[in-house]
Amino acid sequence: MKKPKVFLSWRFPDPGPQLVMEHCETQVWEGQAPIERTQFLSVLADVDGTLVSNATEQLDRKAIDAAPRLRCISNFGVGYDNVDVPYATSRGIAVCNTPGVLTETTADHAFALLLAAARRIPEGIIHVKEDRWRGWNPWLLVGREVNGATLGIVGLGAIGTAVARRARGFGMSVLYWSRAPKPHEESETGAVYSSLQFLLQSSDFICITVALTPETRGLIGAREFALMKPAAILVNVARGPIVDRSALYDALHDGTIFGAALDVTDPEPLRGTDPLLTLPNLLIVPHTGSATDRTRSRMSELAARNLTAALCGERPLHIVNPEVLQI
Ligand code: 8YV
Repeated sequence: MKKPKVFLSWRFPDPGPQLVMEHCETQVWEGQAPIERTQFLSVLADVDGTLVSNATEQLDRKAIDAAPRLRCISNFGVGYDNVDVPYATSRGIAVCNTPGVLTETTADHAFALLLAAARRIPEGIIHVKEDRWRGWNPWLLVGREVNGATLGIVGLGAIGTAVARRARGFGMSVLYWSRAPKPHEESETGAVYSSLQFLLQSSDFICITVALTPETRGLIGAREFALMKPAAILVNVARGPIVDRSALYDALHDGTIFGAALDVTDPEPLRGTDPLLTLPNLLIVPHTGSATDRTRSRMSELAARNLTAALCGERPLHIVNPEVLQI
């Protein structure tokens, strides 16, 4: 039987590429930078499946239309806001993702950002490196207390729940907002359901872990920043466009809030000349929430298994639109 033809938009970490090659005729983009959009569209014309990064490849209507044979889009990642899922579904294309394997790692990262912003770690590093350390004084880089503080989690999915578990260890009180109360997660973590407004008004730290959807795009804007405490710190490990970038700039510049730490930005990548980078109370890292060797290899394996299962007539472990399956 003829092997399905697939395209991998990166040389993803082991073992994914090898697993795919066992079952499929495989073309791998070996570039150090993402494949150009026009080249990606022409490659799609001739494949049955593709394994892509949700950070670099957009599978919108135009891309899907360019791929008449496509039967599976396998995302290397849990988010799938890079895919027009309703349109893929209407074309019978399976959309797969990698939940679970990156939950704890991303929650670790959220906490690393929270702690770094609260205790002003990046500013401290710069202070020492730039030879500005002239001795101790009682005001030097005074930050915010994490232990005993209130953490508000926007979106209590798997990652939000893992953040809430960590917060307990720091003696924090946890509020959360999501579309509906989550009794199971509440009893596991002690998090308390709240309105978004109450959460924004009451939290010392606000951590965004909600998925990007039309409803959450721009969820945190000028009005929401105005509700926050002047001492508040915002952490975003979800998607950049959930936070309105000009409202964020103003809130940090004008001291409406104390600081922010972002793993994700709008746009990505952020250029070095971006005005946001002039703000001393803003810490940004380049979308590295799941970037540990073990997690990346688990994501790779799961994304590869999803792809080969979908193309070989089996049920993928994680499929976003199971209604396309005939099995
Ligand atoms: C990845 C992510 O870095 O899983 C996600 O949704 O945003 C990150 O874990 C990204 O998916 C790269 O493909």
